[in-house]
Amino acid sequence: MAAAVAIPATRYLLVPARAGRKEGWTEAGDVSQLASGSPVELVFRRNRRDGWRVISEKSTVWVVRKSENEFVAFAPQCPHLGCAFHWDEKQRHFLCPCHTSAFSLDGAVLSGPSARGLDRYPARLEQNRLLVGSEVIPGARAAW
Ligand code: FES
Repeated sequence: MAAAVAIPATRYLLVPARAGRKEGWTEAGDVSQLASGSPVELVFRRNRRDGWRVISEKSTVWVVRKSENEFVAFAPQCPHLGCAFHWDEKQRHFLCPCHTSAFSLDGAVLSGPSARGLDRYPARLEQNRLLVGSEVIPGARAAW
């Protein structure tokens, strides 16, 4: 009886909660029809750990095709204060409606209060499916 309580309790105290868990990749969608230079927002579901629970939540990513097998996946929040930005096809740049920060196709700051470019997720291709990692890669600092 004591062993039934002591073994799990010891493991709980000695093994870090995140040990052995791999931060995984999540499939964001099929990118086979994505044209180069025309960003697309993909909507997908991602699992997130909250303590001991795993929560499935809706997520989005802006994807830009750079070449046949090379893609950039931008996190959907503006790096200034977190508003959702969109692609402005007429102006050919990403635009945040909150304080009008503008970003180029490669995520660099063109204008506005944002101090850095668009944040990214790691991205890799598996057949025609784009997989995105959960770690956010901060955008480059603005040139001004
Ligand atoms: S939140 Fe995007 S410019 Fe301020």
